[in-house]
Amino acid sequence: MIAVRGVSKVYALGSVRVEALRGVTLDVAAGEMVCIMGRSGSGKSTLLRQLGLIDRPTEGTIEIDGEEVSGLPERRRSALRLAKLGYVFQEYALLPELTAEENVYLPAMMRGGGARQRRAKARELLARVGLEDRARHRPKELSGGEQQRVAIARSLINDPVVLYADEPTANLDTASGRTVMEALSQLNRELGVTVLYVTHDPAERVHASREVHLEDGVLVGDGIPA
Ligand SMILES: Nc1ncnc2c1ncn2[C@@H]1O[C@H](COP(=O)(O)OP(=O)(O)OP(=O)(O)O)[C@@H](O)[C@H]1O
Ligand SMILES: [Mg+2]
Repeated sequence: MIAVRGVSKVYALGSVRVEALRGVTLDVAAGEMVCIMGRSGSGKSTLLRQLGLIDRPTEGTIEIDGEEVSGLPERRRSALRLAKLGYVFQEYALLPELTAEENVYLPAMMRGGGARQRRAKARELLARVGLEDRARHRPKELSGGEQQRVAIARSLINDPVVLYADEPTANLDTASGRTVMEALSQLNRELGVTVLYVTHDPAERVHASREVHLEDGVLVGDGIPA
């Protein structure tokens, strides 16, 4: 599903040069649930951004669903991102003036298609994450955990093949965090969506079928969670 070969990312800010990723090579098969761990600054978010087509590597190649994506023109990358990838951010990134349902179907609107169908699908996805009775709420009328579940529902509206989640529970209390992780895990099991998630919390490793570790931009550990 994902083939990463020798990916490096160098950030140059004035005279400061940061090698955030150094020669990362990784294969992820369809249906895996991969947990990415590592200290603060080890390159986890940078890796996810390269894989999510939010950013481009300085060196190396990334294949997603059989297609080399790092060299594609920006328009093609945006289209791919919309069609095949879901991304969940630590801080939800919902639009405050839209209801939960509208937030969920927005990425479907950007692709065109029937309005009634996408509303129905948005409702179905909200139900899937346990929020069927919150469809008309705006983000500020939802708890953090609920907002994050709306963000997960939104990430699924275009039937992605891969879902990326960068510390999706970092802003949540333990109980809401657990609900969010369970929602992700259920999507992986029931819909077969490949999931890559970053976490700092060792307790969240239990959801993974595989665990990888980053250390100073280098992939050091890769295996089945203990
Ligand atoms: N846009 C940027 N410009 C310059 N340097 C950056 C940029 N983004 C990240 N970095 C640097 O790259 C390194 C890796 O950052 P990254 O955000 O990937 O770490 P992380 O593992 O996600 O950390 P955390 O656990 O704190 O979220 C850090 O040293 C950081 O300072
Ligand atoms: Mg990070």
